Amino acid sequence: MMASESQNWVFMVTAQTPTNIAVIKYWGKRDETLILPINDSISVTLDPSHLCTTTTAAVSPAFHQDRMWLNGKEISLSGGRFQSCLREIRARACDVEDETKGIKITKEDWGKLHVHIASYNNFPTAAGLASSAAGFACLAYALGKLMNVKEDESQLSAIARQGSGSACRSLFGGFVKWIMGKEDNGSDSLAVQLTDEKHWDDLVIVIAVVSSRQKETSSTTGMRESVETSLLLQHRAKEIVPKRILQMEEAIKNRDFASFSQLTCADSNQFHAVCLDTCPPIFYMNDTSHRIISIVEKWNRSEEAPQVAYTFDAGPNAVLIARNRNAATSLIQRLLYYFPPNSDDLSRF
Ligand code: DP6
Repeated sequence: MMASESQNWVFMVTAQTPTNIAVIKYWGKRDETLILPINDSISVTLDPSHLCTTTTAAVSPAFHQDRMWLNGKEISLSGGRFQSCLREIRARACDVEDETKGIKITKEDWGKLHVHIASYNNFPTAAGLASSAAGFACLAYALGKLMNVKEDESQLSAIARQGSGSACRSLFGGFVKWIMGKEDNGSDSLAVQLTDEKHWDDLVIVIAVVSSRQKETSSTTGMRESVETSLLLQHRAKEIVPKRILQMEEAIKNRDFASFSQLTCADSNQFHAVCLDTCPPIFYMNDTSHRIISIVEKWNRSEEAPQVAYTFDAGPNAVLIARNRNAATSLIQRLLYYFPPNSDDLSRF
């Protein structure tokens, strides 16, 4: 039966996408609509069993408009970023046939059919870790599968990018590079996998939730203000990051934790220096974040080789990358010593 012949069917696809943490940061756009960055960035993808988004995309002739629910609550799809992702995926939709259910959707049908999308995060939104990265990556991937889009992960990443820049790096596991690209239309601004998740599986990532409050300045607004006002950002994008990207790729290839941690910490610190150099200045880290940096720096210096790298995004929470399980255990002991939890907090660990 053709899509239009019966109202009684629903065809759906479910996908799961992990979040990612940048070790060389993306901060600043050269095109706000297409979301094109001013420098390359590199990230590590987290284990999806801990931090991920699960998205189900469904289509049915019974649906009369595109709708979306996030963690069970309906959200608006009218924003430009959602519309870009939907438009780009629809433009690449192909025929879909499910003989067992008797469903046949032609390429042309996709222009008339509407989708319903339900998305869940497996981490508490209240922890302040809600990330648009996993969300838009999963949206692009689930819609791509639903509409039988033939594009590979890198090409899909260029669509996820138009939802949120950092999302393009969540289409792959392991270490991922977002190549900034040169084209005005953004066709070459996409993510590639540097190494898969097995390449360096000694690393253990611990996230210390310093504050669960919503950040005051969103990444989008913060980076726009940095581009407009920070001279340090221009220097960083042109002179510092291109060299750091090459050094980081080398460190990852060789599993060289000493270089990896030095580059990761330096890049996080420079990103926050750019925030301070923005007018008016943006403060994402707080006193607790600074204390964590001092603890890690002192510890690393007291050992023969660095044990832990730290990186902070647009908020005060610390992402701590330990060289192995022993270092991670030792890190958690130190965090519990310096920040003893209230007894009623223990259940949250
Ligand atoms: C500090 O990807 O959230 O986490 O592209 O405007 O949606 P938009 O911004 P977003 O910015 C992420 C900034 C960062 C660094 C990074 O992930 O590279």
